[in-house]
Amino acid sequence: MEKTWTVLDILNWTINYLDKKNIEESKYKTELLLSHVLKLKRFDLYLNFDRPLFKQERDSFKELLNRLIKNEPIQYILGKWEFYGYDFIVNKNVLIPRRETEELVEKVIEYLISLDNKKLNILDVGTGSGAIIISLYLELKKKLNNDDFKKLNFTAVDISEKALNVAIENAKLNNIDDINFIKSDLLCELENNIDILISNPPYVSLSEYNNLKKELFFEPQNAITDNKDGLYFYNKLINSIMERDIKKSFFEIGYNQKEDLIKICKQNKINNFNFHKDLSGNYRILEISK
Ligand SMILES: C[S@@+](CC[C@H](N)C(=O)[O-])C[C@H]1O[C@@H](n2cnc3c(N)ncnc32)[C@H](O)[C@@H]1O
Repeated sequence: MEKTWTVLDILNWTINYLDKKNIEESKYKTELLLSHVLKLKRFDLYLNFDRPLFKQERDSFKELLNRLIKNEPIQYILGKWEFYGYDFIVNKNVLIPRRETEELVEKVIEYLISLDNKKLNILDVGTGSGAIIISLYLELKKKLNNDDFKKLNFTAVDISEKALNVAIENAKLNNIDDINFIKSDLLCELENNIDILISNPPYVSLSEYNNLKKELFFEPQNAITDNKDGLYFYNKLINSIMERDIKKSFFEIGYNQKEDLIKICKQNKINNFNFHKDLSGNYRILEISK
């Protein structure tokens, strides 16, 4: 007779298997996969230890597990990931939104809330999954009164049409229908009316990119690296800040890019800029005021 596999059997077997395959965070990933297949909350697995799995459930689990041991990121396997407490669809067309980017969003919210005049055009450049602009929108909607919130105008651009389609789906998923999503190479397709620019551009240099962990090669290359020295997009965007007279900008930056960015600001005759540290003490946000 075929063995009955319970939730507990599967958890124990898989954690051990992933450990042997040197997959990091084996317990967490096993719990995520199994709760996804069984449509349970992670915590509820522990209330269902004795529940046997049907063959179909075991087959689906095996299929996902095979993807995991080929180093595919768990986020793509699940198809969804949380950013700033909101759900986002993620697939191979978009960068997986990172924890550190939440700190960028937090900084922008803090700044916008402090302003008296809220009649502003806010732009997210290189929106990917839409994580930044959508969480910003949802948080500001919660935090501002209705009149102030209605004065804000939200736009997001990306050069990748496939990424933009994911961002549009994510807006729908979060019940938003008034963010403008535009296919554009940086600011090329935009008018000259941007007040606040936010961007987490591809900032990994090509030489660093070639040495990244295997998992990262599942993400779109043009979302991670500029295929140059990592500074291409900052040069372009900081130049646009000057040309278009954009009053405030926030950028996520690589942990080793502060000195290079000081040079770029100075070359563009920008003197009013600040770097902010992340929770680990690295400078990861550049704020520019004009
Ligand atoms: C690092 S990802 C950021 C994604 C998302 N904003 C986030 O923080 O999770 C950079 C994004 O920039 C986009 N991108 C690359 N080159 C671009 C360009 N020339 N113009 C506009 N977007 C570009 C990529 O398609 C990618 O979605």
